[in-house]
Amino acid sequence: MRITPNTDVCGIVLHPVGHTRSPAMHNAAFAALGIDAVYAAFDVPPERLGDAVRGARALGIRQLAVSIPHKVAVMEHLDEVDATARQIGAVNTVTRQGDRLIGSNTDWIGAIQALERERKLAGTRAVVLGAGGAARALVYGLVERGAEVVILNRTPARAQRLAEEFSAAGYGALSTLGDHPCDVLVNTTSVGLRSDESPVDPAALPKTALVMDSVYDPIETRLLRDAKQRGAQTLSGKWMLVYQAAEQIRLWTNREASVDILSQAFDAAK
Ligand SMILES: NC(=O)c1ccc[n+]([C@@H]2O[C@H](COP(=O)([O-])OP(=O)(O)OC[C@H]3O[C@@H](n4cnc5c(N)ncnc54)[C@H](OP(=O)(O)O)[C@@H]3O)[C@@H](O)[C@H]2O)c1
Repeated sequence: MRITPNTDVCGIVLHPVGHTRSPAMHNAAFAALGIDAVYAAFDVPPERLGDAVRGARALGIRQLAVSIPHKVAVMEHLDEVDATARQIGAVNTVTRQGDRLIGSNTDWIGAIQALERERKLAGTRAVVLGAGGAARALVYGLVERGAEVVILNRTPARAQRLAEEFSAAGYGALSTLGDHPCDVLVNTTSVGLRSDESPVDPAALPKTALVMDSVYDPIETRLLRDAKQRGAQTLSGKWMLVYQAAEQIRLWTNREASVDILSQAFDAAK
């Protein structure tokens, strides 16, 4: 593409920068939509986050994705955090509207749209593994769609707090998975991220559920392999990332990015 004085700048702030596929995905979507913008990755350590947001404001950066470890800390630097992101307690997207920086959360809708491509969620029994930031987004979305949600976590007290906050149906330890028959199972723990581990015993996995892992590196985690072997339908965290990226582009431009193009760019960026 040709970068001109009119080219808009977007990006992702995270630390460490590691291997993020977001620039590849967003730049591919911008090109396909004919949007004159570039998307870069910015390695911002926690002590520089305030400076980074002030810099983005001064430079007129149009949109920033916000990743680990900044999703909570970024909120105090913004002009406004929308009601959903406030309820989830995390911002993964900052969009400039005029001179104002608005915080939103697209993780929840990304996860829900990925799941809804396969199953209707209203009335389903869902189990969420984990009680951290991604779990908050998933639990919010599943409850909002009318699923009956049970939260299981290594530290059950955290699951209990989350269950109470979002009026989930139950909570417990990861080891109790077998006691909770479900139609949808989502892993939001970081177990399996760049490792061949699963957070749960394969024998406890449901045989007929839709199983999604929010971890997308590797694309097929140990949990998904185990679930497939049990006969369950599986969904990679890649799709959560793809749909949340499409939502970010919609928030900024009001245009619909192609899920296929985002997906192909994700694959090509490995
Ligand atoms: N696909 C996407 O678009 C997308 C979006 C957001 C996040 N994610 C992924 O979701 C994962 C979680 O992110 P997060 O922001 O929610 O992290 P987080 O807030 O740090 O939460 C981590 C969760 O993992 C659990 N956990 C960590 N180590 C564990 C272990 N050894 N055994 C059992 N449980 C363990 C923690 O349990 P305790 O409470 O007991 O510590 C907690 O529930 C990451 O891999 C991230 O890449 C994906």
